Amino acid sequence: MTQTPPAKVTVGDKVIDLPILKGSLGPDVIDIRKLYAQSDAFTYDPGFTSTASCESKITYIDGDQGVLLHRGYPIDQLASQSNFLETCYLLLHGELPSAAEYEKFESTITRHTMLHAQFDRFFDGFRRDAHPMAIMTGAVGALSAFYHDSLDIHDAQQREISAHRLIAKMPTIAARAFKYSVGQPFVHPKNNLSYAENFLRMCFAVPAEDYVVDPALVRAMDRIFILHADHEQNASTSTVRLAGSSGANPFACIAAGIACLWGPSHGGANEEALNMLREIGTPEKIPEFIAGVKDRRYKLMGFGHRVYKNYDPRAKVMQTSAYEVLAATGRENDPLFQVAKELEAVALKDEFFIERKLFPNVDFYSGITLSAMGFPTTMFTVLFALARTVGWIAQWKEMIEDPGQKIGRPRQLYTGATQRDFVPLSQRG
Ligand code: CMC
Repeated sequence: MTQTPPAKVTVGDKVIDLPILKGSLGPDVIDIRKLYAQSDAFTYDPGFTSTASCESKITYIDGDQGVLLHRGYPIDQLASQSNFLETCYLLLHGELPSAAEYEKFESTITRHTMLHAQFDRFFDGFRRDAHPMAIMTGAVGALSAFYHDSLDIHDAQQREISAHRLIAKMPTIAARAFKYSVGQPFVHPKNNLSYAENFLRMCFAVPAEDYVVDPALVRAMDRIFILHADHEQNASTSTVRLAGSSGANPFACIAAGIACLWGPSHGGANEEALNMLREIGTPEKIPEFIAGVKDRRYKLMGFGHRVYKNYDPRAKVMQTSAYEVLAATGRENDPLFQVAKELEAVALKDEFFIERKLFPNVDFYSGITLSAMGFPTTMFTVLFALARTVGWIAQWKEMIEDPGQKIGRPRQLYTGATQRDFVPLSQRG
């Protein structure tokens, strides 16, 4: 981080010098840490549209250019040339692994995939119709009740074990959430399968039949995991960091991230996007739907992004995956895919979307792809959570390992009642 001459802010009769910090890419930041002490004023930025909440070396996004880099590597290169576990290693450690490092990492993750036998009883407490994200939020938080030996956040080795456990156990928990909802027996992990294949098997295998999965679907699943692995300081990642800033254990922090991801403006959008395509149903209904968006009756789900004011680079890869999965499952003529392509084409030419810089995001095509793979809509956000776990835990570790780390404690612009005296109930009108 280099510095340039300071920014000057005038507050009342005081002129305050604020250092300007430069990153390796992206906008400079004005360091306002001393502003309150020197001026008695806070800054105001609800929604954090102009606020960098931390320093990070993990992920870089240029929203205007549609660029997403993990540790410097473009997302499309990782999606086409890497695999999810290698991307996990990269996010956690900062560099691509050597062959020996990769082998060790893969074997470690594989050996941690099983859950404590008593953990399975936890699922029985949920109603069968529970949303799997409700199960995920509870179950992942409950990991802290099972793995006491990796809860000391000040011990680097324990932090690493927790990271490995979370990456390894998330597919097992997610698959159990799915199996529970459809009333099928749990399928245990199998160590000779890849991460993605193992997950698909735990979701779709049944004891009565042999399970064979199309390699095209394994590849697509792995690529979907890569596309969702990290996305710098989004709402759920910031939630994980804020929860972790108090010293909470990593399992509790990731459970907080899952809760945040559930919302329809964030991870829940893929579920909403597919529901929207189903409601539109046929290309002829698109003009009527677009008119409703312009009247602000609803949003075009899977479009728009706080950071990307260009095509989301993940959406391009996801569109390719959608083609591959639909071809592999014999659904090339899926009517929803036709609606999606037509809707995208119409929106990209429409002034309403052009002037607001609204482009497809990763969720626009992910629902169609996941649905073709056999997942119900309620599982979409669960898959996002599974994949994002590595990003959350990498960001959490980076924060804990930052010597300047402080508890997150925003301030506020108070507009409520000024001080007044309490009136007893008997004297209130
Ligand atoms: N459909 C219609 N209008 C939209 C949309 C949309 N999807 N997104 C933004 N707008 C409009 C919005 O109404 C506003 O218009 P105006 O200036 O006339 O009031 C303008 O565009 C700017 O929107 P904003 O709400 O200020 O933008 P934001 O940065 O606060 O919101 C967003 C970003 C992702 C919440 C929003 O674009 C959205 O709700 N999109 C649909 C949900 C979605 O697809 N979310 C997935 C995001 S990618 C996965 C993830 O990271 O979680």
